[in-house]
Amino acid sequence: MLKVKQLSHSFRNGLELTEVLHQIDFVVHKGDMVALLGSSGSGKSTLLNLMAGLMKPTEGSIYIAGQDIVTMSENQLAEFRRSHIGFIFQAYELIPNLTVRENIELPLVFQGIPQRKRKEKAMILLEQVGLPDKSEMFTSQLSGGQQQRVSIARSLITEPSVIFADEPTGNLDTKTEEEIISILKQLNRTMSTTFIIVTHEREVAEHTKRVLMLRDGHLEEEHVPEPVVGGTT
Ligand SMILES: Nc1ncnc2c1ncn2[C@@H]1O[C@H](COP(=O)(O)OP(=O)(O)OP(=O)(O)O)[C@@H](O)[C@H]1O
Ligand SMILES: [Mg+2]
Repeated sequence: MLKVKQLSHSFRNGLELTEVLHQIDFVVHKGDMVALLGSSGSGKSTLLNLMAGLMKPTEGSIYIAGQDIVTMSENQLAEFRRSHIGFIFQAYELIPNLTVRENIELPLVFQGIPQRKRKEKAMILLEQVGLPDKSEMFTSQLSGGQQQRVSIARSLITEPSVIFADEPTGNLDTKTEEEIISILKQLNRTMSTTFIIVTHEREVAEHTKRVLMLRDGHLEEEHVPEPVVGGTT
């Protein structure tokens, strides 16, 4: 579903080239929920932005739903992103002068979907993230956790192949973080949506089936211990 091959990325600072990612290879299957861990500056956001097609890598390929996004033109990529990729940001990135429902509908406006159909889908998703009664409010009237739920609903409305989330709970307290993670887990189960979640928090990674760790430009698979069945012996 998502396949990253020999992906390297360097940034230029003046005359100096700094390599952030070095020949990374991995595969994520449909319906997987993956946590991407690594210390600050290890390249997590860089890797996520590359996979979401927000920038081009120095080298390598990124296949999503069978297509290499690296070789696409800007127009092809914009079109591909609109239908195949969802993104959840740490700071929500909602539009303040649109209502909750209008924010969620927005990706469908760009796809030319008629209003009635948009509204119907937005309301179903609002139900799933637990905010059916907030549809006509403005996003500035919501708490941070509620805003993040809206942004989750928005990322899902196009039924993308994969959703990338860059520290989606980074601005939230522990309790709200747990609520958001449990919503993501539930959506992953019920809709088989593929999630790749960047996080600083070990606790978030404990909820996902797979953990990938970025260290010194390399990506390492971490083995998640099997949950103990039957308690103490
Ligand atoms: N546009 C850019 N130009 C130059 N260097 C950059 C750019 N973006 C990121 N970097 C550098 O690449 C490295 C990785 O940055 P990145 O933002 O991917 O880290 P991160 O793992 O997401 O960190 P954090 O956990 O703090 O968000 C850092 O050293 C950063 O300074
Ligand atoms: Mg980051």
